[in-house]
Amino acid sequence: MNHADVLRTVSDHVRSCSLGEATGHDWWHVVRVAKLAKRINDSAGGDGIRVELTALLHDVFDEKFYDGDASAALFDLIDQLGVRAALSNEEWDGIIFDILHLGFKGGFDQTPLSLEGQIVQDADRLDAVGAIGIARAFAYGGAKGRELYNPDEGVVAVGTAAEYRNGSRHTINHFYEKLLLLRDRMNTSEGRAIAERRHKFMEEFLAEFYLEWDGE
Ligand code: ADP
Ligand code: NI
Repeated sequence: MNHADVLRTVSDHVRSCSLGEATGHDWWHVVRVAKLAKRINDSAGGDGIRVELTALLHDVFDEKFYDGDASAALFDLIDQLGVRAALSNEEWDGIIFDILHLGFKGGFDQTPLSLEGQIVQDADRLDAVGAIGIARAFAYGGAKGRELYNPDEGVVAVGTAAEYRNGSRHTINHFYEKLLLLRDRMNTSEGRAIAERRHKFMEEFLAEFYLEWDGE
């Protein structure tokens, strides 16, 4: 199988298993992340096929909805899809290692990633900020039955993964526990530039949100 066939096979599979997911882990998130990752890679100079495969596979066995061993599941998947032989074992090990460590689990995983992993991590984080990030946060909060905002609860930048996952705080809190922190966590210079713009937009959104909350 050549690289174009591998990408098509993997992308068809991911598309078929993630279409219609309502919590922000939908196919279009994967499409946006892959697109941004390719754009960042144009200046970052990583291995293109690795960037794309990491982006396509990064949320397939996310711990939020998959309890088992994600690493074993990913190796099984590439075997099932018949794409394993297209890359070396070392490359697949690297891709799968990056996928396991690039996400936000209520805290920033400090594990060093490959260049390709860092690029996809930037792209994934960028899809959590800006206008899209705001939309995803409220979609997620809605799916969990959370309030938009509750001034009585205030805003808490929670620290532990368990609090993050189980917390039932209003969605505005999510800006302070994660979204506004992402700008300073970018790995690449292109990622930082994009994050800067999206961060400003979120600050404007929050300022307007509080004004309207107060009856402006
Ligand atoms: P990713 O898919 O980028 O790895 P997550 O799995 O942490 O990120 O979350 C998926 C989307 O849902 C992101 O846009 C994230 O900001 C949003 N999200 C996660 N947890 C919350 C929460 N407690 N409140 C609101 N939005 C959330
Ligand atoms: Ni993601």
